[in-house]
Amino acid sequence: MTLDEIAKVTGGRLVNASPSVVVRGPVEYDSRKIGPGGLFVAFDGEKVDGHAFAPTAVAAGAAAVLSSRDTGQPGVVVAEPLVALAALAREVVSRLPDLTVVGLTGSSGKTTTKDYIGQLLARVGPTIAPAGSLNNELGFPYTVLQATEETRFLVLEMGARGIGHIRYLCDIARPDVGLVLNIGAAHIGEFGSVEGTAQAKGELVEALSPAGIAVLNADDPLVATMASRTSARVLLTGESPSAAVRATDVALDPAGRASYRLNYGVHFGNVRLKVAGRHQIANTLAAAAVALSLGMDFDDLVAALGEIGIVSSRRMDVFTRPDGVTVIDDSYNANPSSTAAALHALAAMAAEGRRIAVLGYMAELGSHEVSGHVEVGRLAAELGVDRLIAVADNARPILDGASEVEDWTGQAIFAEDQASALGFVTRDLRAGDVVLVKGSRYRTWDVVDGLRPEEGRP
Ligand SMILES: Nc1ncnc2c1ncn2[C@@H]1O[C@H](COP(=O)(O)OP(=O)(O)OP(=O)(O)O)[C@@H](O)[C@H]1O
Ligand SMILES: [Mg+2]
Repeated sequence: MTLDEIAKVTGGRLVNASPSVVVRGPVEYDSRKIGPGGLFVAFDGEKVDGHAFAPTAVAAGAAAVLSSRDTGQPGVVVAEPLVALAALAREVVSRLPDLTVVGLTGSSGKTTTKDYIGQLLARVGPTIAPAGSLNNELGFPYTVLQATEETRFLVLEMGARGIGHIRYLCDIARPDVGLVLNIGAAHIGEFGSVEGTAQAKGELVEALSPAGIAVLNADDPLVATMASRTSARVLLTGESPSAAVRATDVALDPAGRASYRLNYGVHFGNVRLKVAGRHQIANTLAAAAVALSLGMDFDDLVAALGEIGIVSSRRMDVFTRPDGVTVIDDSYNANPSSTAAALHALAAMAAEGRRIAVLGYMAELGSHEVSGHVEVGRLAAELGVDRLIAVADNARPILDGASEVEDWTGQAIFAEDQASALGFVTRDLRAGDVVLVKGSRYRTWDVVDGLRPEEGRP
């Protein structure tokens, strides 16, 4: 686009540049990532003022700067760069009529499933599904702006912290295929209840056109009922008989990896997943439904499902150390549902030694904070975890939950901080032990990094 066009689309004012300057490179807001011909977007960050980096970005090849003040560099000045970014993204989508947009939301597993969809669709055509969790009013348009004339599939993660958030994202790039994974207690502090969460996430299927496809989880009642909120064709996934893309004959191997028979109309095939955890059945079924609805060949799909892996870091990343200790790094984030999934994965794994769970604080639970931690601790004990370590004061209710399980014979340990948690874990680790590490964001990252062999550290 020319700067003149960018100014029109964003309602901005051209500064220090000719209207005919063309932006051909990607849009970046980190000056270190800018490439030749790109557009640098300057944000007034809490810690860093992006405007200060405008000269660096232009020196690095940026064709122009999009900012809320004149930086002295060629560019377009707008009232609100975030709104301008959304307008640009909307324009780019409208100029790519052959692009197929996949949007997905849910309480847990969005990034994981987005990565699976990316890996499947890449076998069908050029696909954009960048690693990481770019699901908000910044990451979403940023991802959209990576699409080019070559792109056939654009896979977009959509997050919501309140009513209207998903609608806002759909208004930037309306999905052709909309997927809702599950509704759980994630961010329940903002929503108040799981019904409130369902109301917000369901905005995705409301935004679909009658020509669109809604992929919904038949096994999650709050998701399955979203069928009534869409005019799109509905494709149900799950283990329930009502699912059109259905898993039957489920089994778990000693490494906690699922295998199942995938059924779709007259088609069926045996899938053996490489990724650990029973919850990957739901995630891979959802990804499979998206791929099938976009024309992927069934047998190619079955083969591909056996090869897809974890792309974004700290999500069910299972590794075995040279000393024979297995570690499940699921520390990216945590809520009661995803922690339950991880604890089930830990319990499903054969362990010659002990099963150890290192659990940190789960944020954003609002009034469910104490009960959420208690529930998780109780489950850990019910599943027979041998050693349960709660990290930091606000994670203490996890141990209260475990102590409610009378016949639990495991050991409960409170660690004041990550360093002492790491100390408790490593003190007497033996070959055959399996250690799960999980908490909200950074709260257990030091623990798991300390357990990683040097060369595997992020
Ligand atoms: N279907 C699922 N059910 C429960 N937990 C899951 C499921 N899929 C993935 N998880 C777990 O949830 C956690 C978060 O995974 P992921 O990052 O994929 O989710 P997300 O929805 O993108 O999260 P965020 O809201 O932080 O963007 C990880 O620990 C992951 O292993
Ligand atoms: Mg995510």
